[in-house]
Amino acid sequence: MAKMKALILSGGKGTRLRPITFTSAKQLIPVANKPILFYGIEAIVSAGISDIGIIVGETHEEIKAAVGSGKKWGAKVTYIYQEEPLGLAHAVKIAEPFLKDSRFVMYLGDNIIKDGINALAREFEKNRPNSQILLAHVPNPSQFGVAELKSGRIVCLEEKPKKPRSDLALVGVYMFDSSIFRAVNAIKPSRRNEYEITDAISWLIDNGYTVEPHIIEGWWKDTGKLEDLLEANRIMLEIYEREVKGKVDRYSSVEGRVVVDKGARIIGSVVRGPAIVGSGAVIRDSYIGPFTSIGRRVEITNSEVEHSIVLDDAQIENLGRRMEGSLIGKNAKVKKSDGLPAAYRFMLGDNSEVGVL
Ligand code: TTP
Repeated sequence: MAKMKALILSGGKGTRLRPITFTSAKQLIPVANKPILFYGIEAIVSAGISDIGIIVGETHEEIKAAVGSGKKWGAKVTYIYQEEPLGLAHAVKIAEPFLKDSRFVMYLGDNIIKDGINALAREFEKNRPNSQILLAHVPNPSQFGVAELKSGRIVCLEEKPKKPRSDLALVGVYMFDSSIFRAVNAIKPSRRNEYEITDAISWLIDNGYTVEPHIIEGWWKDTGKLEDLLEANRIMLEIYEREVKGKVDRYSSVEGRVVVDKGARIIGSVVRGPAIVGSGAVIRDSYIGPFTSIGRRVEITNSEVEHSIVLDDAQIENLGRRMEGSLIGKNAKVKKSDGLPAAYRFMLGDNSEVGVL
């Protein structure tokens, strides 16, 4: 029996996370200081799959630099370049030369499934349907692709229905066999001009292929928007044990589940977990509150930061008020402006968002 492969989708535009995605891949934004994409790779490898294709788009260089050959996970990574983000089904279509006739898992590179995909992969291999789709109960199904089930099979899929027929949303993980290539070659682009994976799966159902559901109860998130990214950060920080390797001076207190990486320094500050402080970061005369991830070499001085993600090399200084619910990009500077006239001074990239008091 041929071994299963994996296809991770790490192209796309990431318009909902601009301006961060003008310069960086959204799949590489760190959650609890680890790129989102790495959680997916780990879940796939843990399910016993080591032959991984990654769909990349305009951020291909950055993705390749971060993931490399896959060796650090014991995996073999093949990069598949998608010239335009023409939809999830289009990504499957261009991956056929890599996937050939293997059964495979398709994993959206911006999704985190806390409990992994081991159970799903096992079930798919045991029952051998043509496709198996990960589903979860959600309170707001009309914002998702929704599945209707009958006697253990999926009978209908609808993209963001006004009147959902169930509360079962599609989570970003799908299992397929090679019949999916017939589907993706048969469908037409949707109204938003994308080849939709829901249309391809509907094609499978309509043409008599077996599409089974796998309902997960654990936490999962599509991190495509800021609030979801912050929630993912909150949840994933909870899984880390306290580990203080950096230097904490005697005027500081580090409370609860806090990771302070080697080379980080906490000076005259309070860090209250769950939180993580990356290597080389310096926290001085500041308060770092729960659910905060501080990247490498970040400098935070005389400020209060909570429930936020601060990327590498950013600087935050003399804020005067607490900062929360924020995503601060690499190398960004947030400082009290000095000199007269007393005024806000901004230099913001396109699509930036600032909330002032
Ligand atoms: P989406 O989040 O649906 O799309 P997007 O990345 O373009 O984001 P936005 O809607 O904010 O503009 O994509 C889900 C995942 O699939 C994500 O990791 C990007 C990836 N993807 C591709 O690799 N190729 C594609 O053609 C599309 C549409 C998405």
